Amino acid sequence: MATPFSQQKGARHTAVLVKGDGIGPEVMGATQRVIAAAGVDVDWIECAAGADAVRTHGSVLPDATVLEIRKHRVALKGPTTTPIGGGWKSVNVQLRQQLDLYAALRPVRSIDGIATRYHGVELVIVRENTEGLYSGIEHEVVPGVVESLKITTEKACRRIAEFAFHYARERGRRKVTLFHKANIMKLSDGLFLHCARAVHEAAYADVEYEEMIIDNGCMQLVRDPSRFDVLLLENFNGDIVSDLCAGLVGGLGVVPGANIGDERAIFESVHGSAPDIAGKRLANPLAAIMSGVMMLNYFGESAAADRIKAAYNAVLASSDPKVRTRDIGGTGGTDDFTNAIVAKL
Ligand code: NAI
Repeated sequence: MATPFSQQKGARHTAVLVKGDGIGPEVMGATQRVIAAAGVDVDWIECAAGADAVRTHGSVLPDATVLEIRKHRVALKGPTTTPIGGGWKSVNVQLRQQLDLYAALRPVRSIDGIATRYHGVELVIVRENTEGLYSGIEHEVVPGVVESLKITTEKACRRIAEFAFHYARERGRRKVTLFHKANIMKLSDGLFLHCARAVHEAAYADVEYEEMIIDNGCMQLVRDPSRFDVLLLENFNGDIVSDLCAGLVGGLGVVPGANIGDERAIFESVHGSAPDIAGKRLANPLAAIMSGVMMLNYFGESAAADRIKAAYNAVLASSDPKVRTRDIGGTGGTDDFTNAIVAKL
């Protein structure tokens, strides 16, 4: 079972920084400021990836970026733009596949001070991150007919199930729910299901486990998210349900994430490059800051991570709308929110 390695607490840490596209530089700059204000020394190795890297480096994912992440083992990454209906393959999909970052871990929690329709949401999404429809194997069979292959392997299904059950047990979680569409995709989602059952039966019988067809699962999520705890999904389903769950707790500006493999991890928010607000300094940096907090915990810097959490919670508890961004009901921008967090630290 993969457990994140821990660097030594209090040591100087090294992390690759990919600022990314759109709002990426804005939210990543905010995250660096907050981590520095929390007193953690990080040597940032800045590397290029994304649409801007095509212009500056002639490649959407330069070899040097992958090499640096391989070498330093930890990266904090901003969102990268992927063209729709053509163009290059997603940087995220490439990184996750090349570095075998097979588990996407996305905690989705209600946050005091962020008003939503739901209270007490405490979900963790565990998404298989390397295969399924995101294998990117597509071709035109004959004009007017295209084929996309959904690759599902027993190895990947077993290890993501192992990850989810292990995580649930370690964190004292009450239940793992697997969402699937094995009634239609009998072989691919069927394999996902059978592997999870086998892993559960063999080693995790103490962890409560249930299965749900994904369309019903989505309906149940928006009706009462509190009935779920850890959600286990294959890649494509996990991508979509992540955004659905973000909507339960205040949107894409407040949900962090980590892509974890046996040796390496890349921390990044669930949101994309948000071209509609890019460059306006309106983006909510909270998801990126929370991803930074996940990175600090991975480094073993849990005290600093807790200080940052306490600081942003205190800011969010404030009734002053100027210190929060517009997506969560405020009137401020990226810098107002970041300055307020830094001031608390
Ligand atoms: P998006 O997440 O960029 O934006 C969706 C909506 O949420 C927009 O209205 C945006 O303004 C808002 N939003 C997102 N993050 C926000 C933040 N931090 N603060 C305030 N509002 C925020 O998704 P979209 O528009 O579907 O994708 C845009 C680009 O991002 C695409 O090229 C897509 O491929 C890429 N993308 C990259 C990801 C990554 O690198 N991890 C993840 C998702 C999408």
